[in-house]
Amino acid sequence: MKNLVYRLFIYLCVISHQSFSNNENDNDKEEFINDLISKMTLSEKAGQMNQYNGFWDATGPMPEGDYQKKRYNELKNGQVGSMLNVIGVDEIYALQKIAVEETRLGIPLIFGHDVIHGYKTIFPIPLAESSSWDLGLMEKSARIAATEASADGLHWTFAPMVDISRDARWGRVMEGAGEDPFLGSLIAEARVRGFQGDNLNDINTIVACAKHFAGYGFSEAGRDYNTTDFNQYTLHNSIMPPFKAAVNAGVRTFMNSFNTLDEIPATGHTHIQRDILKGEWSFDGFVVSDWGSIDQMIPHGFARDGEHASELAIIAGSDMDMESSLYVSKLVGLVESGKVKEELLDDAVRRILRVKYELGLFNDPYKYCNKARSDLQLGSDKNMNVALDAAKKSIVLLKNNHQILPLKKENQKIAIIGQLANDKNSPLGNWRSQAEYNSAVSVLEGMSKYSGNKIIYEKGVDLYYGKTNFHNRVKINFKDRSGFENAILTAQKSDVVILVLGEEGHQSGEGRSRTNIGLPGLQQELLKEIIKVNKNIVLVIMSGRPLDLSWEDQNIPAIVQAWHLGSKSGDAIAQVLYGDYNPSAKLTMSFPRNVGQVPVYYNFKNTGRPSTSIEQVTNSGYADVENSPLYPFGYGLSYTEFTYSDFKISSDKIKKSNSNKPKSKEIIVASINVKNTGSLKGKEVVQLYIRDVVGSITRPVKELKGFKMIELAPGESRTVNFEINESLLEFYTFNKKWEAEVGNFRLYIGSNSNVTDFKEFHLID
Ligand code: NOJ
Repeated sequence: MKNLVYRLFIYLCVISHQSFSNNENDNDKEEFINDLISKMTLSEKAGQMNQYNGFWDATGPMPEGDYQKKRYNELKNGQVGSMLNVIGVDEIYALQKIAVEETRLGIPLIFGHDVIHGYKTIFPIPLAESSSWDLGLMEKSARIAATEASADGLHWTFAPMVDISRDARWGRVMEGAGEDPFLGSLIAEARVRGFQGDNLNDINTIVACAKHFAGYGFSEAGRDYNTTDFNQYTLHNSIMPPFKAAVNAGVRTFMNSFNTLDEIPATGHTHIQRDILKGEWSFDGFVVSDWGSIDQMIPHGFARDGEHASELAIIAGSDMDMESSLYVSKLVGLVESGKVKEELLDDAVRRILRVKYELGLFNDPYKYCNKARSDLQLGSDKNMNVALDAAKKSIVLLKNNHQILPLKKENQKIAIIGQLANDKNSPLGNWRSQAEYNSAVSVLEGMSKYSGNKIIYEKGVDLYYGKTNFHNRVKINFKDRSGFENAILTAQKSDVVILVLGEEGHQSGEGRSRTNIGLPGLQQELLKEIIKVNKNIVLVIMSGRPLDLSWEDQNIPAIVQAWHLGSKSGDAIAQVLYGDYNPSAKLTMSFPRNVGQVPVYYNFKNTGRPSTSIEQVTNSGYADVENSPLYPFGYGLSYTEFTYSDFKISSDKIKKSNSNKPKSKEIIVASINVKNTGSLKGKEVVQLYIRDVVGSITRPVKELKGFKMIELAPGESRTVNFEINESLLEFYTFNKKWEAEVGNFRLYIGSNSNVTDFKEFHLID
């Protein structure tokens, strides 16, 4: 009876607030939430802050084991506010029903899941997709992922991952947008917009989550979960910008990270969560911990026990506990003993309820549970076509000597070699969510579809054995060469050999750090045998990270970086190899010459002894390889050629605004002419870089500050303009402020970050 009264109260509050406000009136929202909080017990507040992984088949019999029963009872007692990894309309509906109908206040749960590069329709891994430099496309793929996930009952994705990373050893580079804060910020915004749309109350939008806050991409030696070591300027100038951009785009949740920064675990880091995120940036959504990261402050040596960890985490601003089960068991006691103020719980709960309210869950907790919608939308042809488009636009042409590519469509004998060529699973990548096992189009399938050529397949060598999954290490073959002979014979008799080599889909991603980033197993050995009998090799690399391709670059005429491209991988690769799509993607992470060069990135510092050749001894270089990467940031070839000329700037001065006046409106227009001098229509990403020559702290040798994608027919040319204003020159200075400093700047426009021609301009007082 008591329950019923409370639920009636909630219902009336919601009706009176939401039906008139349509969720848009902030006052109504806050009033509703405050009313609700005033009715909550301490235990219910801690419950809202508790997130559990899906723990039993909710549409089946009641849970049996003690552990599951305990969680079930907590759910019924209003001690669970959110769940993750509960999949499908029926399961979500069943659990939501318990929260809404059996708990005292009937507060709906928010259901989250890692929808990273698609839900049922799988898009290229985010690093691959970032290589398209196509923000509209990235927004669209996130939009489709949101449409599918919400059609299947979900409310919230733990994406985008916006961690900047410079270390290809780190397996999670596949999940981000590469090494550059400027491009990373634009991509963060696009993905947030895609997931969240214009209004979270819409049926086909989900809440986005900017993660991992902060510095996770700088794990030492690329070892996952490892500690980090960077200074406050790196934090502000390189790591924070994409997070800030996500806030500007309206992201409603953040996830903190497993690593320490400034020697403090991010989960217990008050300065970044309270001072910066919730203070300076005025973020009023909520922060979820990463999986068990509150508990993990104990092995970090920062918290004595679970109680201490909970105290540190809530004080630092972690609002929701993912799977540590600590908030639910410790917070009540901490408040009662006076160690934690109840207002901190109120603040966290307010943030969580706010997001639930914005989703419209108080109005209709089952609004996303519509079986008919999920049947219609998941993996639809329309969605798959976008996945194909995204896959084509993510393929980077690294090398194409003697124009081996594009391949002729008729009268060719083509050998396709490599286990990955016939693999329908690896292209789905690491975070394939609800994709069916083996559901991608393989390269072999794709290549057979688009031409009348004779195609012969030979595996050559097993890269890996058995069925792979998220929780186990991929078993790599280092011994079995029994397939070499047939592969060599087939290659010998063919006009062209396509070797598809690289990483299995679960060799990159979380917990997949590697110290050797060459081709795994016996793949390179096979490649070396094949080239002895046929030099016409096209090497297609599937991987979730930049690999060390130095030997390949020296010896193989054509190399195509095909990542893990998702459901339509094989179609996209075939279309590129046959020239139905002219490659347009550009790398967003530098490819090292060897693993010893890592971290290698384009926006490095010059040092006091910059090196220009390996012959120099006492300069900042190596004795065995150049400092430059094998393939730089921004690099990628096309089947046509682009020539840059007539580089101009409209003025060589901008006047700096003074602190009492609004920002100077002065701009410099930089322009360049780009001509398609090849014989095919093609797209080019024209890139603008700036160097701030002298600063109050040392500045990178170049920073990306703009780009434009243009498409030109053969012989066509276009003038591309960029506007440079004072804001573009700002950085986090020695004064601990974002500001531009007067002085000299160099401006570069080119087709990748290696561009050397520059014009100089000055920011003057
Ligand atoms: C741990 C990962 O670090 C995080 O990115 C992910 O969202 C959670 N697990 C939930 O799966």
